Amino acid sequence: MTLQLQDVSFSMHNKNILQHISGRFIKGKITTLVGPSGAGKTTLLKLCNGLISPTAGTIMLNNKALTAIEPTVLRREVGMALQAAPMITGTVFDNLQLPRKLAGQQLTKDEAAASLASVGLTTDLLDQQADELSGGQRQRVSIARTLINKSSVLLLDEITSALDRIAVAEIEELIVELNKAYGVTIIWITHNLQQAISLSHEVWVMIDGELVQTGAPTILTTPTNERVRQFVEGGLA
Ligand SMILES: Nc1ncnc2c1ncn2[C@@H]1O[C@H](COP(=O)(O)OP(=O)(O)OP(=O)(O)O)[C@@H](O)[C@H]1O
Ligand SMILES: [Mg+2]
Repeated sequence: MTLQLQDVSFSMHNKNILQHISGRFIKGKITTLVGPSGAGKTTLLKLCNGLISPTAGTIMLNNKALTAIEPTVLRREVGMALQAAPMITGTVFDNLQLPRKLAGQQLTKDEAAASLASVGLTTDLLDQQADELSGGQRQRVSIARTLINKSSVLLLDEITSALDRIAVAEIEELIVELNKAYGVTIIWITHNLQQAISLSHEVWVMIDGELVQTGAPTILTTPTNERVRQFVEGGLA
């Protein structure tokens, strides 16, 4: 699945939040979105799975405008995981089953166990209450739940920022593995520039609602763009 933005702008309450964003996320690769707080990163992700719609411009999934794709199909193809990894009250199994339930289908215990295994968790967690999970386990279950739909694009919004260093390293490893094993296209917002530098195939730098530069992680390590340089010097200090 190719996800592409064509001159996308988004405004709300007469305020321009995103301005003329064009680009294509590389299929089967990891793209990180970095930029100062308020740059519009989360807004861009929400546009990518149709939670909100552009004020102008078009977003295409496999050359088809998102507006022409059935919402349930779109949610299945483009999954999203968030920093807080929100869980419903109930067991891990209840949470894994949620995307199927919403689609009027059931999840078998075997499928649930396989999905836990794919994020490095053991089957005995299936009956555990979701609110008893550690932060790292919770984030893994959240990712597993997103993957129940076999999404071809995975949107990640600061999924490691509430975790300790060891859990961060484990989740990073997991995302890289999922990307390699299933060829999932990953679009990952992070405030951790080292993470962006070490894990991404491509980096998008957003500042003040604009896509300032895209390219290999070297655009962060040896910035050639003045605005990117200023951002990196602030961010890495
Ligand atoms: N529902 C909303 N109503 C009004 N303004 C909003 C809304 N959502 C976002 N904004 C504004 O849009 C801009 C971009 O917000 P966004 O959350 O996309 O930034 P971000 O890059 O994800 O920031 P952060 O790194 O802090 O998460 C901000 O100025 C924000 O105040
Ligand atoms: Mg955000």
